[in-house]
Amino acid sequence: MSVSQFKVDSHGRRTHTCGALRAEHVGQTVVLKGWVDSRRDLGGLIFVDLRDRYGITQIVFNPEHNAETAKMAESLRFEFVLSVKGTVREREVAAKHAGMPTAAIEVMADDLILLNTSEPLPFMVSAAESRETTASEDLRLKYRYLDLRRQELKNNVLLRHRVYQAVRRFYDGEDFVEVETPVLMKSTPEGARDYLVPSRVHAGKFFALPQSPQTYKQILMVAGMDRYFQIVKCFRDEDLRADRQPEFTQIDVEMTFATEDLVFETAEGMLAQIWKDVKGVDLELPFPRMTYDAAIRTYGSDKPDLRFGMELHDLNPAFKGCGFRVFDSVIDEGGAVVGFVVKGGGDTGRGKLDKLDKDIVRKKLGGGGLIHFRLPSDGSELQSSVKAEVLPTEFVQKAIEQTGAEQGDMVLVMAGAAPKVFMQMGDLRLHMAREEGLVEESADGPWKFLWVTDFPLLEYDEDEGRFFAMHHPFTSPQAEDMDKLGTDPGAVRAQAYDVVLNGSEIGGGSIRIHNSEVQRQMFDALGIDEEEAQMRFGFLLDAFRYGAPPHGGIAFGLDRIVMLLTGASSLRDVIVFPKTQSAQEPMVQSPDVVDAHQLRDLHIQLITKEDDAD
Ligand code: AMO
Repeated sequence: MSVSQFKVDSHGRRTHTCGALRAEHVGQTVVLKGWVDSRRDLGGLIFVDLRDRYGITQIVFNPEHNAETAKMAESLRFEFVLSVKGTVREREVAAKHAGMPTAAIEVMADDLILLNTSEPLPFMVSAAESRETTASEDLRLKYRYLDLRRQELKNNVLLRHRVYQAVRRFYDGEDFVEVETPVLMKSTPEGARDYLVPSRVHAGKFFALPQSPQTYKQILMVAGMDRYFQIVKCFRDEDLRADRQPEFTQIDVEMTFATEDLVFETAEGMLAQIWKDVKGVDLELPFPRMTYDAAIRTYGSDKPDLRFGMELHDLNPAFKGCGFRVFDSVIDEGGAVVGFVVKGGGDTGRGKLDKLDKDIVRKKLGGGGLIHFRLPSDGSELQSSVKAEVLPTEFVQKAIEQTGAEQGDMVLVMAGAAPKVFMQMGDLRLHMAREEGLVEESADGPWKFLWVTDFPLLEYDEDEGRFFAMHHPFTSPQAEDMDKLGTDPGAVRAQAYDVVLNGSEIGGGSIRIHNSEVQRQMFDALGIDEEEAQMRFGFLLDAFRYGAPPHGGIAFGLDRIVMLLTGASSLRDVIVFPKTQSAQEPMVQSPDVVDAHQLRDLHIQLITKEDDAD
């Protein structure tokens, strides 16, 4: 198409969007603007689906109606940008268009203005053809502006927008104030590596981008803000997975005079508002609660997926004194024999089980080995992977009884040190549920929420030989465990909680320490001496000396919530410009090199790879 064919847009403003016209508009003259989603040429008669954010409208170019316009329409290609003036007329609705809101009409084009052309596309964008795009993710991320034109991603962006609005409406109604905290700040203790920003003015000094606004929001409580929320970007330089991005968004919340119950109630209200506004679903409140300990022992996970059963059973009582060396020694050493039932698994073939043992249990989960008991569906006798001479049947029967397995079912069992063996069995439970088709990610639920409570305050790192805060160092111990902080830190439970949805951690928080003395004891337990505490968090400790009220809060992973609401399988599908697995952004190509003079300004000298090797 030659440049001369571009005309000034004399149509003026559009009268409607491409999703607006209905039967009631028949006979009206309209102006629509949008992209060519598709074009069909039926020997002179040309049909164009014109698309914008709001929908698609069929435009008809008929040479008998307007020869010049119809001629021009012949050269239209995918994603050309048009302005069309025409008359709305009734259209016979073909069954395949029945769901399309504008299906009852079409626009007979009187005039066409070409606003822009498009080069041939690197992948299909058209609503009709792009539903299941086969384009590689790298290509889609490089041309993200095209990818975002696809229905699926566009809908995710729009749904995300509705989530923001629901969140703001809810918190505003509950007297929370929205406050923006600094992005150029100081290292925050959320356990990941920091993204650093060098200071030009202060040679050798760096800002850290917030891993969360944790310290600021606590200081806002000291400042008397009472109730705070913020939809906020957080930055964590950590290994990426489908549910982790280096730059992600939290719905961050803090409340003065908070109790766990108050935080839960408010969080449930906010989530209920999102589900109501976005899905039209009334969530059942309150959400069930489970202690961390029970979650590990029953589901082998601190984020149990409750969409299916398959609970774990501690089979120590059944196997105590059974004479099978593996079980006996594990039980004697304080470990556990753990099993769960695979419903209808009684006829599973030996080959499949051997593969499960080798590829999943040993290789992937690092387990010692899988034992199975099968109860064939034809009623024939129990089949055990351990011979009856080694593990007497009466003990196996007792275990089967304890699990509630029936004829036709299978019991999978592992023995090992606790709690590790529970976690390995938890992973196996998830693997089996996927294999058996018990879980399917869907934008329509079911929605299984759960509060996991009573997390341990600290966890011991064998490699480093010291305790780390399981949540963060400002989390309050439970009152009744407070005296163990100095004597048995590993046994102290925290006033910390997570909210879990369908096996995904969508939020976490705690009641905070607001007393300088308890905070000092906590730093002691973490091996942080006074000097270091003062250097890293002195501003917070200072603030605590001036009438810090009791407070607590929570932060939700907004991207994860949107991912679950859309049924997307990766956070990358719900973030407009996400990073790849290797923490790069292929469209703008960041991170990137910078000019030498910029580095000089920042007092930075780069170490080359060879220097590094020295
Ligand atoms: P936490 O570290 O548990 O708590 O984070 C809160 C929630 O943020 C989400 N999340 C992430 N989402 C995407 N990518 C990531 N890399 C990522 N990391 C975390 C999760 C998680 O539940 N300051 C505390 C909150 C508090 O105590 O109030 C905090 O940040 O859904």
